[in-house]
Amino acid sequence: QNKELERLLQAHEWAAKLFHYLLKNTEHGKAAMDYLRNRGFGDKLIDQFQIGYAPDRWDTLVQFFEKRSFDLQEMEKGGLLSSRQNGSGYVDRFRGRVMFPIMNRSGRVIAFAGRILGDGQPKYLNSPESRLFNKSRTLYNLNLAKGAIRKQGQVVLMEGFGDVIAAWDAGVQHTVATMGTALTENHAALIRTLTEEVVVCYDGDNAGQAAALKSIPILEGAGLHVKVSVLQNGLDPDEYIKTYSKERFVDQIIHGAVSTTKFRLINVKKHHNLLEEDGKAAYAQEAIGIIAQLGSPTEREVYLKELSTEVGVSLESLKQDCNLARQTYSRKQAQSQSNNSNRSNGADAS
Ligand code: CTP
Ligand code: MN
Ligand code: MN
Ligand code: MN
Ligand code: MN
Repeated sequence: QNKELERLLQAHEWAAKLFHYLLKNTEHGKAAMDYLRNRGFGDKLIDQFQIGYAPDRWDTLVQFFEKRSFDLQEMEKGGLLSSRQNGSGYVDRFRGRVMFPIMNRSGRVIAFAGRILGDGQPKYLNSPESRLFNKSRTLYNLNLAKGAIRKQGQVVLMEGFGDVIAAWDAGVQHTVATMGTALTENHAALIRTLTEEVVVCYDGDNAGQAAALKSIPILEGAGLHVKVSVLQNGLDPDEYIKTYSKERFVDQIIHGAVSTTKFRLINVKKHHNLLEEDGKAAYAQEAIGIIAQLGSPTEREVYLKELSTEVGVSLESLKQDCNLARQTYSRKQAQSQSNNSNRSNGADAS
């Protein structure tokens, strides 16, 4: 069993080396190289992240592994090859794609993500879950970032490969990515072994912002202190750096990350028209519902003051509403707590 695992790791390492070589040194890799250049990936980044190319052929890996007497059935289980439709023999799983090797924490290749050149579906083809690769426990780039994470006392959490690599190029090296999957408690616990502070820097589109909101309680639940980057106009971190600049990214997006309360307030605000009285009042009520959850009176006052300026309502009125909201909120909390303890006692709440 352990021998099989080691053989799979070896196979992944060979494959990564082969793809990297084919990208850099062969005619097959030219289009992929152009694609990467266009995206601003220089030689240094291509080397650092061991980016490669899987040619648009059925048997690049099959031939390579056959020559070296690897067990092809094992490689299929490990996700590098696919079974032929008619059931006899194997073909390459990754064809005509830019290859991003995914390493475990100690830097061994455990999976690949292959990106199509240009448009097409799926945009990324990933290794399947296997004995080596469990997406809900893996963070892309943790192997390279872990030193910087400890040093900075912070990790920056992103969605994708391009984001992490562009951030690295901008000098932000303490960055990892969930690779598009929802953040799990396992991810959060893994992060907590390295640092206490997280900056959630997800894509600026609706999906990314919704995912950021969902990740907050999971991260906080693991004992992490959370800040959130606010990306506008649907840009992702990679696109932001290319649209503006590395410097502006570091300044505005990383150093400018806001508290989770502020982030929730910004999101609520988007859904109201502050040019109308109704909109203002509705926004104020929703905002108060968020502010009321803060335990510290000082913190509450800071946000209420900002809100007071935004909606043109006196601090006194907002405070009154906030205190009412706090009563409702703590009643709900108590209720859900007693529901929970009833449930764990096996008692029927009804
Ligand atoms: N992803 C995936 N499979 C897909 C689409 C996305 O595994 N079909 C993962 C990838 O890890 C990707 C991340 O989700 O990097 C974020 O998705 P998305 O924002 O859609 O892609 P980008 O990373 O922005 O891709 P690119 O910049 O290469 O266009
Ligand atoms: Mn190299
Ligand atoms: Mn996205
Ligand atoms: Mn993206
Ligand atoms: Mn992108």
